[in-house]
Amino acid sequence: MTATTDGGWMALPIAAPPQPGEVLAVAMGDRRLAVWGTSDGGVQAWDDRCPHRGAPLSAGRVRDGQLVCGKHGWRFDACGHRIVPREADRAVSALDACARVHETRREGTAVWVRMTADQPGEVIECR
Ligand code: FES
Repeated sequence: MTATTDGGWMALPIAAPPQPGEVLAVAMGDRRLAVWGTSDGGVQAWDDRCPHRGAPLSAGRVRDGQLVCGKHGWRFDACGHRIVPREADRAVSALDACARVHETRREGTAVWVRMTADQPGEVIECR
């Protein structure tokens, strides 16, 4: 499947939505996504890049409804906000610490994503 970043909806190339707590690495053209299942059966699709030091979030795990980066343990809520600051990382602002979250919708076994454009130098705003 060819990915675009024009704001349009695209079907994720996966056979089935992730189960609650499951994290998948999904390629959409030149973009990589961490796609994970929430406890209520929802699906999240985030850029597969931790805002801390760029580790793949798809290598993390879901714990208590949060995605935990496998590299240094930063935790993000379902909106992509970092919620457990580490003592050594307090200088990082909240804006710098958000994962890029893409809008998703689920239709049966299909998951659709509307990816936001990746702008060089862009500050990701927490929603
Ligand atoms: S790279 Fe994710 S917590 Fe450090």
